[in-house]
Amino acid sequence: MIVCRSAAELAKMREAGRLVGEVLTELAAHVAPGVTTADLDELAETRIRKAGATPAFKGYHGYPATICASVNQEVIHGIPSGRRVLNEGDVISIDVGAELNGYFGDSAITLAVGQVSEAAATLLRVTDESLYKAIEAVKPGGRISDIGHAVQRHVEAFGFSVVREFVGHGIGQKMHEEPQVPNYGEPGRGPRLAEGMVLAIEPMVNAGKPAVKVLADGWTAVTRDGTLSAHFEHTVAVTADGTWILTAREVPVAVR
Ligand code: MF3
Ligand code: CO
Repeated sequence: MIVCRSAAELAKMREAGRLVGEVLTELAAHVAPGVTTADLDELAETRIRKAGATPAFKGYHGYPATICASVNQEVIHGIPSGRRVLNEGDVISIDVGAELNGYFGDSAITLAVGQVSEAAATLLRVTDESLYKAIEAVKPGGRISDIGHAVQRHVEAFGFSVVREFVGHGIGQKMHEEPQVPNYGEPGRGPRLAEGMVLAIEPMVNAGKPAVKVLADGWTAVTRDGTLSAHFEHTVAVTADGTWILTAREVPVAVR
């Protein structure tokens, strides 16, 4: 069942989403060579709890941390570690989820650590663009697969590939609700989009081939071919006035 949210519920989800965005903005300011992914995790957990919220990932099917921090060929679900030190030229995907007053927000960004290769910078830009193309494809009366189609079209035009094994999702009073939101496919398929639906749209894009595998830690998904991967995510609501990015960050577009 896909739940449609009232205006009052969407207002609460915006508060959860706003917090998640603020956490990402704070973490982005700390990403630098020498910082560990455990440092970022600690900052995120402190900020979330100070706001009276709860980290959404910690304890979820046994996940041990507040954020997912996925470096270079890691696609998603990288577990923060004090031994994982960021180096100049790395790219790091940071995924944050929080529950505030019974509602969830979920968002991810991928950032360059210092100067990165032109290829890496292009991967980040194109993946971010694909998320916004996907958001533009969200319209009441449209279909779920319109979203993935927009992602795939954009990404493949640059020779990159879309990860198939992981998908976006409905979100509300649970982090993962129906429907699933794939990042590929033909348009015009799947459930109809309707006012009040809230979706976490999260393209995962590889520089090389699409295949991924999960490491022995049971969480970290990496590209099989070892190429770089990027991940951007927003929680968005379908409303009569257009699509509302609940996890929007109040920062200039250039550093979004
Ligand atoms: N944004 C990811 C998702 O929607 C984060 C989940 S990490 C987990 O699935 F640890 F909570 F699973
Ligand atoms: Co998600």
